[in-house]
Amino acid sequence: MPQRHVEPAPVDSTAVFKNDIFKGKVLFCTGGGSGICKAMTEAVMRHGAHAAIVGRKLDRLQASAEELAAATGNQCLPVQADVRNPKLLQEAVAKTVEKFGRIDFVICGAAGNFLAPISKLSENGFRTVIEIDTLGTYNTIKATLPHLRASKGSYIHVSATLHYRGTPYQVHVSAAKAAVDATSAVLAVEEGPHGVRSNVIAPGPIAGTEGMDRLSAKGPAAQDYASFVPLGRDGDVRDIANVTVFLFSDAARFITGQIFPVDGGCEHLRTLPLPYPESVVDPEAVTKMIKPRL
Ligand code: COA
Repeated sequence: MPQRHVEPAPVDSTAVFKNDIFKGKVLFCTGGGSGICKAMTEAVMRHGAHAAIVGRKLDRLQASAEELAAATGNQCLPVQADVRNPKLLQEAVAKTVEKFGRIDFVICGAAGNFLAPISKLSENGFRTVIEIDTLGTYNTIKATLPHLRASKGSYIHVSATLHYRGTPYQVHVSAAKAAVDATSAVLAVEEGPHGVRSNVIAPGPIAGTEGMDRLSAKGPAAQDYASFVPLGRDGDVRDIANVTVFLFSDAARFITGQIFPVDGGCEHLRTLPLPYPESVVDPEAVTKMIKPRL
């Protein structure tokens, strides 16, 4: 029987792009203390940039900043701030500019997620994710925009693919990420004439991340996600990091207002994280399959 093609593991961006393309540049990344955003930060730093990583947990940020600096030879500033608080974000931006003198690149990456059907999700649960993802993105843009106008810089917003369809248990995140996509488009149109670009990266399921751990079914309902990916393997944080380097690089200077799904093509297959329709007919029955509480 013919065998399917399985795409090899991703290469590091340094195998494709020159090491010094971001020399003298500064990245400001919310959510950079862990997961996908940490890998995005590391890749940008490997090409010469210094970075500030912003998050809620200072101890995790400090440990990550040390790790990133050691791995890349460039400087990383950990700054504690909740993206829901505009004042704290402005202070984080001020600290970054005080240390590095400028900001060229911004990754709006801080996000919250858990699985819950509309029938069980509280108003506060819905609002919390909207506040972190959508308002957090807006607050980050507002706090950084003067610096990006000055540097003719570039934004990347970390979104998702799940709102391209009606993904059950994800109404809060779907609404939040749809708004992030829309925000990026307006930012691109308004700020293009000021020399600022804005694009969205929409990761599919990425193995080994907290998001994937929270969103995938456990136990007998667990699925082999790789088999549903047209390119035949799980997503890797380096897949997202590589697109980040491209979009911030001069090679992408004529690209703005776009959305880049990075998912090996699985957006088009319409697989679901939980068995359907069982998971929506009887939410209580799926509590054992998922990590979060309902
Ligand atoms: N299921 C249902 N509701 C949930 C929930 C879950 N798993 N987790 C939180 N909520 C609800 C809470 O019950 C609360 O609503 P209530 O007051 O009506 O009870 C509301 O959301 C706020 O929860 P709280 O824990 O106070 O908010 P928080 O700001 O501390 O953190 C998250 C909320 C979503 C950010 C938290 O889950 C988190 O820290 N996640 C880690 C980051 C993450 O998800 N990363 C992956 C991104 S893909």
